[in-house]
Amino acid sequence: MKSKTQDPNHTTPYGEAELDAYVLNHIDAEPEYLYRLWRDTNVRLLHGRMASGHMQGRLLKMLVQMVRPENVIEVGTFSGYSALCLAEGLASNEQAGQGRGHLYTFEINDEQEAFTRPWIEGSEYADYVTFLIGDAATEAQKLGVKFDMAFVDGDKRTYVETYEALLPLMNPGAFILADNTLWDGHVTDPAYDKDQQTVGIRRFNDYVANDKRVTKVILPLRDGLTLIRKNS
Ligand SMILES: C[S@@+](CC[C@H](N)C(=O)[O-])C[C@H]1O[C@@H](n2cnc3c(N)ncnc32)[C@H](O)[C@@H]1O
Repeated sequence: MKSKTQDPNHTTPYGEAELDAYVLNHIDAEPEYLYRLWRDTNVRLLHGRMASGHMQGRLLKMLVQMVRPENVIEVGTFSGYSALCLAEGLASNEQAGQGRGHLYTFEINDEQEAFTRPWIEGSEYADYVTFLIGDAATEAQKLGVKFDMAFVDGDKRTYVETYEALLPLMNPGAFILADNTLWDGHVTDPAYDKDQQTVGIRRFNDYVANDKRVTKVILPLRDGLTLIRKNS
């Protein structure tokens, strides 16, 4: 059966439509609720393609199942797609008897709340999510919580500052997942030398590469996803 999510924005690193479709047809299906959220995101929101989508969503769920975090933080909720995938992983962990984890997801743009809150609160995973409006870099520490996993997907120009704000809040051995770290390939394209988001991502990649406090690897999935582990 063909996947419902054969959208050009659900891309793989290969950038070929046939391979994209092949990948989507050989991984877990996108849950119906998330498919409807993806559609609503793209119909009603400007820049709907910022939402994670089918493939990355399934990866986020699986990473939560692998890491088994107690507390997770997300920087950049947007429409709530990735948040609900992280929460789905937490629910699966609980069903497997691994304790009840929780996600704190921050969105800096208060105009996003009217769209996103009903989608989060209407989800079967609502009890696993606290949706907060504010700048994660300044607000997260006020929660008084230590995290085992972070998904960083906010402003590309301030990734380094966000990373520095989060790192002290992460437990030893915790994972930070940083999204879009290849920025559509612009990181190696001199034509983007003056583009502030590209400059921000390059600065972040150089910074993390030289950071001895962490172990890191870049997955060339979609726009690039960097997995960073805070050393014990
Ligand atoms: C790429 S979208 C997030 C997409 C979402 N994580 C997903 O994968 O479905 C980025 C969002 O981050 C928000 N944002 C940017 N900087 C932020 C910050 N410092 N704290 C919280 N949200 C931030 C933006 O307003 C925007 O809605």
